[in-house]
Amino acid sequence: MTTAQVFEGLAGVLVAKTELSLVDGQHGRLSVRGHAIESLVSVQPFEAVLGLLLDGALPEPQRLAAWQRELGEARVRADERLRPRFLAIAAPDAMSTLRSALSLLPADATPADALGMAAVASAAWICQARGGQLPAPQPGLAHAADLWRLLSGREVNEGAARLLEAYLVTVAEHGFNASSFAARVTASTGADLPSAVVAGVAALSGPLHGGAPGPVLDMLDAVGSAELAEGYVQAELDAGRRIMGMGHRVYRVRDPRAFVLERALTEFQTGEGGSARLELARAVEKAAECELSRRYPERALRANVEFYTALLLEALDIPRGAFTAIFACARIAGYAAHITEQRTSGRLIRPDALYIGPTPSV
Ligand code: COA
Repeated sequence: MTTAQVFEGLAGVLVAKTELSLVDGQHGRLSVRGHAIESLVSVQPFEAVLGLLLDGALPEPQRLAAWQRELGEARVRADERLRPRFLAIAAPDAMSTLRSALSLLPADATPADALGMAAVASAAWICQARGGQLPAPQPGLAHAADLWRLLSGREVNEGAARLLEAYLVTVAEHGFNASSFAARVTASTGADLPSAVVAGVAALSGPLHGGAPGPVLDMLDAVGSAELAEGYVQAELDAGRRIMGMGHRVYRVRDPRAFVLERALTEFQTGEGGSARLELARAVEKAAECELSRRYPERALRANVEFYTALLLEALDIPRGAFTAIFACARIAGYAAHITEQRTSGRLIRPDALYIGPTPSV
């Protein structure tokens, strides 16, 4: 009889040292290289956070301009590479399409190439789903503004681009989440950057990770109106189903990203005359929080980032099927930083398992 302990899901296991981000689950704080998430979202452009992640500090104006140029050129290269092949790789779901598109990148692709490809491929999938034509990237624009142009097929709308940018900054990096870890495991074998990014994107596609926001909206549709929220939540939990957008492996309080996204969305929608949808969402969150804390008093299951992601991406008129792909458009910045950190300081990641199969015959 063995006494070895198995850490299911690796919860609480320290597998590496990192300088990238601190996820403080007890106090609900997130910081990226020492910068609180609240000081970055709606303050810094996506390019600055990319610089923070990859260069180690927020960039000076010249370096910021260089990142903007690099991303712009990468979107153009991605468009040239993807457009002639898009029909051959386009799949009914956006994440499969994104995976295939990233696989078109050469082994020596840069982080900007991966981000450029993610932006163009996600926008191409959305345009195809709407029956429209993908516009050509404008390399002179900021990344978020051009991504908005590409995926909406419209001219830049400053408010929408700002909201999309707030989202990209919020979710760019988040510790040793499953997909960043998958990217690191792949990088630890010496695999190239596109392979490690594809591994991350594959892990992100699951409903327990990046796939939750679509079902959050399905839930809001099913609830319909605020006074029905409580009954809906109870019926779902009684049926043994999870409430999407609630709970987190690390946070024991409300996810700090839920706060910043809710704030950015509220600002955007105040400009647009408010939103009944947001009010409904708040009622569902309240009902879910209440019922979950009654059923799991020791667990503290609160709203996570996906809850307000769902509302934000919906407000930007992004189709539900593309939500996880847009998440990837941001998180690839984090993957790139993890891949670099893993290559410079990590070892081959190769854990062990407790064998419980038949006794080996001699
Ligand atoms: N709705 C209902 N019950 C939930 C729940 C939710 N959203 N989240 C956790 N629970 C329950 C589990 O059913 C489990 O109950 P049990 O002990 O009776 O089986 C208990 O809480 C602990 O759950 P566990 O699976 O250990 O939590 P975890 O840390 O592994 O899971 C998540 C974290 C995020 C996977 C989980 O909270 C979840 O599935 N949330 C919904 C999906 C989601 O929003 N994902 C996006 C994450 S950013």
